[in-house]
Amino acid sequence: MMPVTFTLNGKPVSLDIDPDMPLLWAVRDEVGLTGSKFGCGMAQCGACTMHVDNEPVRACSVPVGSIAGQKVTTIEGIKGKVAQAVQTAWVKHEVAQCGYCQSGQVMSAVALLSANQKPSDADIDEAMRGNICRCATYVRIRAAIHDAAKSVRA
Ligand code: FES
Ligand code: FES
Repeated sequence: MMPVTFTLNGKPVSLDIDPDMPLLWAVRDEVGLTGSKFGCGMAQCGACTMHVDNEPVRACSVPVGSIAGQKVTTIEGIKGKVAQAVQTAWVKHEVAQCGYCQSGQVMSAVALLSANQKPSDADIDEAMRGNICRCATYVRIRAAIHDAAKSVRA
């Protein structure tokens, strides 16, 4: 065990924790924020996607000790114009089906639109290809991202 301090959704967090524990478990089990989901545990599905210093990461495969001092954002903490546009578009296009993958999908979409406010279909496919949806909501995800991009540019 060792103390690990980082910023989570804008607030300082200090955990006395095994530094090898995946960030996903630290946030879900130690902090109690459960919006980020466990899918594969092998950085293959994207259900656990969080932002670390504004970049999307697979939190199931990032040791919490490695993000000490960094800024972590989860689905519970996203805010601002891009996040609002994505959430609004997700509702408008009724993207979610079972919903399990959607926290990760939204986090990846917000990261994409924060970096590129006019993504092509190819840009979207590239940014989102690590986010698997067993319900195959991909067409609605793409439509919602294009719609959100328009709102961000307006
Ligand atoms: S649970 Fe992390 S990528 Fe699948
Ligand atoms: S909405 Fe069910 S897995 Fe994506």
